[in-house]
Formats: sequence, C-alpha cells, structure tokens
Amino acid sequence: MEISMKPIEDSIAEAMSVKDKELLPHLPYILQDFWEMGTYPDIIIELIRRNSAESKGKRLLDLGCGKGAVCIAAAKELACQCHGVDAISDFLEEGRRKAEGLGVEDLCVFEEADVRERVKELNGFDVIVLGSIGQVFGDHNETLTTLKGCLADGGFIIIDEGYHDSSEPISEQARQAGMRIKDEYVIVDKGALKKEYEKELDMLTRRCLELARIYPDKEELFKSYIISQMMEYQIMESVYINSAMVFEPMY
Ligand SMILES: C[S@@+](CC[C@H](N)C(=O)[O-])C[C@H]1O[C@@H](n2cnc3c(N)ncnc32)[C@H](O)[C@@H]1O
Repeated sequence: MEISMKPIEDSIAEAMSVKDKELLPHLPYILQDFWEMGTYPDIIIELIRRNSAESKGKRLLDLGCGKGAVCIAAAKELACQCHGVDAISDFLEEGRRKAEGLGVEDLCVFEEADVRERVKELNGFDVIVLGSIGQVFGDHNETLTTLKGCLADGGFIIIDEGYHDSSEPISEQARQAGMRIKDEYVIVDKGALKKEYEKELDMLTRRCLELARIYPDKEELFKSYIISQMMEYQIMESVYINSAMVFEPMY
C-alpha cells in the first residue's frame, strides 16, 4: 500500500520553516539577498575532500538545492558533475545564471521537480547532499533507506541539519537503514554563527518590511514571518548542534 505524500507546498513550507503557506509565493523576493540558504558550501566541499580518495569529477546530486550554492561550489572547486533538484523555479533560475557567470554551466544541471518523486528515477551518484531541507524524506532512517539506492558503489550521503542532543541517536537510525556515520563536521564557533544569523535575519527583515509596505493588507503575514524566523534562528543558535554528517552503506 502506497502512503500518500504531503502536497509539495507543505513540503516546501516545512523545509523553509514557513507557517502560513500564503507566504510561499513571496519567498523569492524575501530571500533575494541570500545565496546560501542554510548550508555552507565550504563545509560540504571539505567533507567531500576528506572522505574521498579522489575528490575531483564526482557525480553529485543536491536534493532541495535552492539556488545551487553547493552545486556551483562543487563544480568550481572539485569539477563535480552536479544535478540540483528543487521545487522553486525562481531559485533554480538564479542558480543557472550564477553557474553561467562562473563558467560552470556545463557541469551543473538544475531541475524543477518534487525530490520525493524524482529520486525514484535517479541513481549512480557518488555524493548525495541534503542541505537544510529538514524532514522532507522523513527521519534519518526513512531518508537513508530512500536514498541508498541512488548511490553508486563507494558513494556517500551528506545530511546537513541541526539536531537536538537529546534526539534518538542518529547512528541507530542509520543502522536501521543499513548505513553508518562515516564522518561529521560540527560548527563549534557559535560566535561566528551568531553573527552570520544576525546578518541573515537583517536581510530578510528588510525585505519583509518592504513587502508589508507594498501589500498593506498582508502586513501581519510578513511581520509574523519575521517573528517566527527570529525564534527559529534563536533555536538554531542555542539548542541545536549544527552538524553535517556523512553516511555510507554498511556492506
Ligand atoms: C532551506 S532551503 C535550502 C536550500 C539549499 N539546500 C541551501 O542550503 O542553500 C530548502 C529547500 O528545499 C526545497 N524543497 C523542500 N521540499 C521540496 C520538495 N519536496 N521537492 C523539491 N524541493 C523541495 C525548497 O524549495 C528550498 O529551496
């Protein structure tokens, strides 16, 4: 029996911590000053380097790639052949423009699709990246079970996501999926992270206030979003362990 999927709008809203779906069409405007939208490409590059005998030229799949910051960095620095999939066409369009501007358009394909459907047809990847997309595929067990089949031999999956210290051990969920944690990168410099979050909050606040002036009848929508993001950043800063983990199959 197939379990029915949440609508795509719900998946995007959850991944982007948006409570009121009326805000979704405004996300490209609100996030226009962002390039990275959660995941720092340098960390992913570092993890690919230290977990591969040969880090150049890998086939990389970025699920929920946003504007393609990870794909473009991996193409530029490691000559990876990158396939980014996301549901928001404006983000992908920006990724394509940037890839062209940096001369890596031949190494980057950006596709608009629901990743939950698209992964059923994709395989043979050396690296799969899930950067700050939350529980789009479920918990770690469900996510790794779903994505294991998309890997080439020797491939690995990188999940960049904050977690609570008290949550069920991720290693146990990985084991249930027939995988293990190979490596982890934890951001320990909370001071630098705080500064980065403040900058991001400023950028999105400014754009939300502009929208509130353009659409006065929706002022509440934009102001509530600012408040919910403030709370979200506070949680990420204080409660979460900011980590990117590398998972490999257990043979
Ligand atoms: C917080 S952003 C992270 C973007 C990117 N990984 C980064 O770190 O810059 C989450 C992304 O997941 C995408 N997303 C969420 N659910 C999706 C789905 N079911 N199919 C495709 N994209 C999805 C959203 O459109 C959004 O671009």
